[in-house]
Amino acid sequence: MVLPKFVEIREVGPRDGLQNEKVIIPTDVKVQWINLLSKTGLNYIEATSFVSPKWIPALADHNEVLEQITRNESIIYAALVPNLKGVEGAVKQGVDEIALFISSSEEHNKSNLNATIAESIENLKTVAEIATNEGIPLRGYISTVFGSPFGDDISIEKIKEIIDAYIEMGVKEISLGDTIGVADPVQVKGILSELFNNYDPKLFALHFHDTYGRALANIYAALEMGVTKFDSSIGGLGGCPYAPGASGNISTNDLVNFLHRLKIETNIDEDKLYEATNFIQQALNKQLDSKIYKVQSSK
Ligand code: HMG
Ligand code: MG
Repeated sequence: MVLPKFVEIREVGPRDGLQNEKVIIPTDVKVQWINLLSKTGLNYIEATSFVSPKWIPALADHNEVLEQITRNESIIYAALVPNLKGVEGAVKQGVDEIALFISSSEEHNKSNLNATIAESIENLKTVAEIATNEGIPLRGYISTVFGSPFGDDISIEKIKEIIDAYIEMGVKEISLGDTIGVADPVQVKGILSELFNNYDPKLFALHFHDTYGRALANIYAALEMGVTKFDSSIGGLGGCPYAPGASGNISTNDLVNFLHRLKIETNIDEDKLYEATNFIQQALNKQLDSKIYKVQSSK
């Protein structure tokens, strides 16, 4: 078994992390935080989302955040976009990449996007066309791949239907989401084997929430299958407010430390991650769910 030598991390804290917090973080604090994240060696930061502020009030300041951060040329600053209004805003702010999203559960898609999966695919086609005309690369999330918060069955056929639609739209990377953190390593290997028989494995990234503490085990299973791209959130922040039971993402701190321990490079500085975590912990005024951050704090 050969593990990859290098793993790319997509930091989703400023988007997935803050969307689920009750406290609304002031814009200037978000900006300082993203600027700290930009100094850690991360080369991908999902900075915000262009969704309805009625649905996600915590990210209503998407324009101001993107206007005020200091952009590092070597970092991709991405934003999550569900519809026409969102893509127009994201284009105006010159985001480097647009992340589309859809769920493989009809129930969750309805709850999260107020649309059927078929309607969402149609909406996203328009978004993708506009982004492509503007030369903005596309990433696509598929939520609830490993289980739905509403208990409805997730079929591999539905997942493939969404993958095919994304490929048709020109999506270059597909992030398979364990929205409520229920996956296990055997399931991960089973689903990846099925998908890798049909698609280029390089197309996929994995996005694990850590509700049951199995995210690193799932990531190890995926590494063994050759996956080299993972989403994570600094301090283990995160969760989808429209997926009951969702908790934080695997923390970037724990993921990076785990990878370094396995002699897998990331180019990310663990001490600088600590600084950025400490900053947001103080702003949120709560203990964050990262084992490595706790170890570093106790020194
Ligand atoms: P809707 O209510 O059907 O939309 O929601 P609407 O078109 O009727 O619009 C309602 C209001 O929102 C209108 O304002 C629109 O203008 C406004 P009003 O006229 O009432 O004043 N609006 C917008 N404003 C700003 N930007 C926009 C926008 N769109 C509409 N883009 C809608 C449909 C898609 C808008 C809504 O369902 C929505 O915003 N959903 C987003 C929910 C969300 O962000 N969830 C969390 C992210 S997904 C996730 O966390 C999973 C992931 O991490 C992967 C994983 O873990 O699995 C990605
Ligand atoms: Mg998520």
